Amino acid sequence: MRLPVIAGNWKMHKTMEEARALTRAIKDGAGGATHCTVVLAPPFTSLAAVCGETKGSSIQLAAQNVHWEPKGAFTGEISIAMLEDAGCSMVIIGHSERRQYFGETDETVNRRVKAVLNSSLKAIVCIGETLAEREAGRVHDLITQQLAGGLAGLTHQSLSHIILAYEPVWAIGTGRTASPEIAQEVHKAIRDWLSRQFGTEAAQEVRILYGGSVKPDNVSVLMRQPDIDGALVGGACLEAESFLRIIHY
Ligand code: 13P
Repeated sequence: MRLPVIAGNWKMHKTMEEARALTRAIKDGAGGATHCTVVLAPPFTSLAAVCGETKGSSIQLAAQNVHWEPKGAFTGEISIAMLEDAGCSMVIIGHSERRQYFGETDETVNRRVKAVLNSSLKAIVCIGETLAEREAGRVHDLITQQLAGGLAGLTHQSLSHIILAYEPVWAIGTGRTASPEIAQEVHKAIRDWLSRQFGTEAAQEVRILYGGSVKPDNVSVLMRQPDIDGALVGGACLEAESFLRIIHY
């Protein structure tokens, strides 16, 4: 019922030429995949180049951030219309690196999410706890706070624009993947929260991706969990070989 999503977050990697080459290799290996939606999220400068290479395939293009205002004097920012124009159908919002290093808060996540609701884009909204928060037993409180803040003011109809990504900060780039049981437990808590806020039917439709050291050799067991509907991949998406093995989990 929920088509899985395998998304590659390229973060700050790849020039345009490198982006074209990686996209061509992924398209050759996975362009016809129907068991999941493949999403590539290159840096802004490579969006158009990647879009050019994905034409004629079902691969979707995502940006890594977006501003909430439609236009204006916001030096360094990118609008929704610009992303649509570059060929994007999705945008990552509230990644932990944006929260950690660039002052993103639940409130600014919420502004971005609300702006996306009035567009053709889907938002991949990222949440997740730090190691200190997990060790302090605060996972559920924190997740609830990020969901309530980031999705404030949304209706059950608007949930069709939302994909969630649970990315425990302690698992990102560390090689320390959450165990399938830990990930499933949090994914289920997220879906239970969505059910309470928006109704069971709407909650059952929302894809919840797991992110944090997803690799070819751990993706299958994660994907077997009932509430894990895909992966948001960092390091392992930068080489076609490993990303293709993840796509064909
Ligand atoms: P890694 O797969 O490198 O841990 O990164 C995960 C991530 O942050 C994806 O958004």
